[in-house]
Amino acid sequence: MAVYLGIDLGTTGLKSLLVREDGAICGSGYREYPISIPVSGYAEQNPEDWWLALRDSLAKAMRRAEIDNTEIAGIGLSGQMHGTVLTDERGVPLRPAIIWCDQRSADQVAAIREQIGLQRLGEWTQNPVGVGFQICSLLWVRENQPEIYRKTRHALLPKDYIRFRLTGEYGTEPSDACSTLMFNCAKQTWSEEMLSAFHIDPALLPDANHSAAEIHAPLTREAAEILGLRPGIPVVFGGGDQPMQAVGNGILRPGDASITLGTGGQIFVPVDTPAYDPQLRTHTFCHAQRDSWYVMGAILNCCLAQNWFFDKVLHTHAFAERHEAAAQIAPGCGGLYFLPYLTGERTPHLNPKAKGMFFGLTLEHDSAAMTRAVLEGVGYALADAMECIRALNPRIHRLIVSGGGARSPLWRQILADMLEQPIYATTMTEEAGIGAAICAMVGAGAYESLEQACGAIVRCEDGCTEPIPANAEIYREGQNTFRALYKVNHSLFQG
Ligand code: XUL
Repeated sequence: MAVYLGIDLGTTGLKSLLVREDGAICGSGYREYPISIPVSGYAEQNPEDWWLALRDSLAKAMRRAEIDNTEIAGIGLSGQMHGTVLTDERGVPLRPAIIWCDQRSADQVAAIREQIGLQRLGEWTQNPVGVGFQICSLLWVRENQPEIYRKTRHALLPKDYIRFRLTGEYGTEPSDACSTLMFNCAKQTWSEEMLSAFHIDPALLPDANHSAAEIHAPLTREAAEILGLRPGIPVVFGGGDQPMQAVGNGILRPGDASITLGTGGQIFVPVDTPAYDPQLRTHTFCHAQRDSWYVMGAILNCCLAQNWFFDKVLHTHAFAERHEAAAQIAPGCGGLYFLPYLTGERTPHLNPKAKGMFFGLTLEHDSAAMTRAVLEGVGYALADAMECIRALNPRIHRLIVSGGGARSPLWRQILADMLEQPIYATTMTEEAGIGAAICAMVGAGAYESLEQACGAIVRCEDGCTEPIPANAEIYREGQNTFRALYKVNHSLFQG
């Protein structure tokens, strides 16, 4: 059976996944790379580190899979979104990549908001603008490193740079291009209005008139030699990590939606029109197939908040034990609340200055209650994001939870109770890499469509977590207090 390579270019490392046509992972390798922070708030990576991580992780995966390199029939990519790789005419990076979590471009964000305003930003891009998005990083470089900007011939997203190294060709597709904020998601083309308002030469940007499962070009002889593969393997475009993760969970069409409990938390809801929140509190981005979109709410502190509490406060790694203790505490934690905004917040507040806090401590509370309050605080933050999404009236029949936090039965129950919706789990792991491999399978003709491939590969666990009405009632009240805590303390969140 043919094997496909799914490349998952993440924020902390790159994973190479070798996946058989039936979805079985036959080998994987991972290599970390650093985020460099030359100035507080900056976040940069060396694109060469991504390439070396691909070479090394793939070698590891090939050894584990014990397959011959002639068995690999296609390559797909999933990439961290929003980031900026600037290259010269030969494709050589002119500076380190500025990645999505870089905070330097606050002035550029403010200037964009001021110059075009919320309404036109919505009409032109359907999205809020945030630090680390490619347009902001590009404008920062133009203002602060004009000599580099002058030499720039290509502005690429991270996975499109790696695909360039594989194929020697430049290109992108809507599911990642939309994250630059220079893209009109509704029209699925670069936004002429944004480019002309900010005097950005369209020639800097790759052709985006492609799709995730389309073959871009064959693997070059040079790349094949470095990676130990055979030249000519078809390389498909792939997509941004959020849509690729959704493909790996089989979430393609309206009706299915997902919540990912990772470092941050994301709610991903496919929609069949590019409807967007007029207040721009959520994203409306392009999904992996043409003429399909998703609305996404992103919270910044999900497992990050939990891990902070366990590492820095409880000094424990006994996650399961702490969750079991927290499950003994009654919902609502006897009036104890936690705002999880340890690194600011995206949806719905778009406030990098927001802070975390506990509220309502009494002598009754102990570490188990505080643990539960942290998990509930993340749940309330996700429920806030879900409310913004629900205002657009999407269809959500089946809500699937994934990511590391989804392993906790307590967290799943809290979410089911707060969102008042049954929560399902897939049996999938490594969804973004699988999503990338699925795109390669479709591109290479193993399946006719992403739907057909997902139907054959993605499986859901039996059963689901049902909401408990009595808990839901407690949390409905609690949600009001949680919101009031942000509102009342908002002006105190500084610096
Ligand atoms: C999506 C987002 C993350 C990054 C990093 O908006 O910020 O998914 O792509 O993984």
